[in-house]
Amino acid sequence: MASSDPTPVVTLRDVTEDDLPIFFEHQRDPEANRMAAYPARGWEKHIAHWRYILREPSVRVQTILCGEEVAGSVLSYVNEGIREIGYWLGREFWGKGIATRALAAFLPGESARPLYAHCAQHNIGSRRVLEKCGFAIIGEDSYPEPDGTVVKEFVLRLD
Ligand SMILES: CC(C)(COP(=O)(O)OP(=O)(O)OC[C@H]1O[C@@H](n2cnc3c(N)ncnc32)[C@H](O)[C@@H]1OP(=O)(O)O)[C@@H](O)C(=O)NCCC(=O)NCCS
Repeated sequence: MASSDPTPVVTLRDVTEDDLPIFFEHQRDPEANRMAAYPARGWEKHIAHWRYILREPSVRVQTILCGEEVAGSVLSYVNEGIREIGYWLGREFWGKGIATRALAAFLPGESARPLYAHCAQHNIGSRRVLEKCGFAIIGEDSYPEPDGTVVKEFVLRLD
């Protein structure tokens, strides 16, 4: 797929073992960590996290393909009794409408409503992805990082 292609074909499929090293690289990109206000995991923690995700029945997760390439992942999971959405793309796939299309493709298979999402207030792209898929901001939240920095988040909901 040429990077200049304005309409990459985005599809979802089940996660395979071969995807995990690719997701590892995606989640340790410092710019992505800053955007998501989420720290990188080392390899052991990454694999343990994915082993948990893949065996936990309440988690629904799909690999995002851009053409034949693994672009990232999209998932839903239950946090304190509410179902939330998350996604993460490799940096080379940003800015092409892929996350919006991936989430739009994921949502019809997700029967739970309402669905919730949290995004850092500085993560304009993630907020836009959610809004374009019908989520609306319903509130704000914040939490302290280990260094004491407070991360401000928006809470969004899809009814
Ligand atoms: C956030 C992320 C998923 C966006 O993916 P993407 O495929 O680039 O998003 P899209 O191309 O579908 O863009 C959707 C909208 O957001 C805008 N957008 C995307 N990235 C942006 C950015 N960095 N700054 C401002 N706007 C941005 C796009 O212009 C588009 O808006 P428009 O249609 O109104 O023009 C991707 O950057 C990513 O995976 N980041 C790291 C992990 C992360 O932040 N995950 C979400 C945690 S809540």
